[in-house]
Amino acid sequence: MSTDALLHAGIIGVGSYVPRTVVTNDDLSRRIDTSDEWIRTRTGIGARRVASPSEATSDLAYEAATRALEDAGIAASDLDLIVVATCSPDHPGSFPSTGAILQERLGAKRAAALDMGAVCAGFSYSLHIVAQMVRTGSVRYALIVGAETLSRIVNWDDRNTAVLFGDGAGAAVLGPVDEPGYLGGVIGADGSGAPLLAVPAGGSRKPLDADCVASRSNTIFQNGREVYRFAVHKMGEVAIEAVEKVGLSTSDIDCFIPHQANIRIISSAAERMGLPMERVFVNLDRYGNTSAASIPLALDEAVRSGMVKPGSLVVMVGFGAGLTWGGNVLRWRAGGV
Ligand code: ACO
Repeated sequence: MSTDALLHAGIIGVGSYVPRTVVTNDDLSRRIDTSDEWIRTRTGIGARRVASPSEATSDLAYEAATRALEDAGIAASDLDLIVVATCSPDHPGSFPSTGAILQERLGAKRAAALDMGAVCAGFSYSLHIVAQMVRTGSVRYALIVGAETLSRIVNWDDRNTAVLFGDGAGAAVLGPVDEPGYLGGVIGADGSGAPLLAVPAGGSRKPLDADCVASRSNTIFQNGREVYRFAVHKMGEVAIEAVEKVGLSTSDIDCFIPHQANIRIISSAAERMGLPMERVFVNLDRYGNTSAASIPLALDEAVRSGMVKPGSLVVMVGFGAGLTWGGNVLRWRAGGV
């Protein structure tokens, strides 16, 4: 196909959902040896949401997805593709995929469905890949949902990780638009960093057994300092690379939406990019790190708050286990065709 035949792709609707239960830093400090002051100064996190026992990842995804479809003004039956970016799927090994479960609940009969396994960079990966599919016309309307119930894979007795994560979901509907919407981006990985951030057991390397459960090795392990070192360097670098790739510079950015992992990582990336914090969207104080849900949840809130408006240049950067990273550049809402 010649590039002349390519369509423009854009996000034509967004939505998000967080569970009702709020767990504050003070709540955590009653269970583990930590404090509100430590968590706020080291991470910027003040609280996180936790799913109810009856809520699975697909339930959170469903709420965010129905809001995004309504915002886009299309029906679930119009969707050709559903991608759920998650590292906490309804079933182990995404067997079956949370995407397929969501497809059935939405009644999106025509849509293919899958899960994206790029952990916290899952939404960034999905957006970059699916935008190319919309551009070529191989799919018309696609739904991307980042959804997590990390509360199910966190060791609540480990202060190194329990304070960081939360549950939530964010969704975006992609479709053809009449002016350039998704301008481009970058995705990448460095598998040498895989041991730094992992759920060590419960997969084919170390199948689940009683020892794994007793040692909690079926929950998130993180080498915080090394991941911090990687992220501080990578977040700004990926944002700069992504904007330059589409012929723009960081001074053109109206709204930067970083993965909501740690305020210190975000501020140092903004500094490196020469971007004032007024142009950076932050909601990790209320939700913590919701992995693949973090960017679409922040995007939805940035749109609702008016920080992202028609014509805004939006740059989003995710990073996570793998190690993986992804950056997306888009001109906000060109309007579906
Ligand atoms: N409360 C109190 N003290 C704590 C806590 C806690 N919750 N957690 C750790 N500490 C202690 C440590 O034990 C250590 O004590 P020690 O010096 O006696 O050993 C001390 O605080 C300092 O620990 P550090 O690890 O050096 O603390 P740091 O300032 O690096 O902050 C943090 C830790 C917040 C985890 C930081 O390293 C970080 O944010 N790393 C990156 C995390 C990240 O971005 N992860 C997500 C990436 S991908 C994804 O989203 C899935």
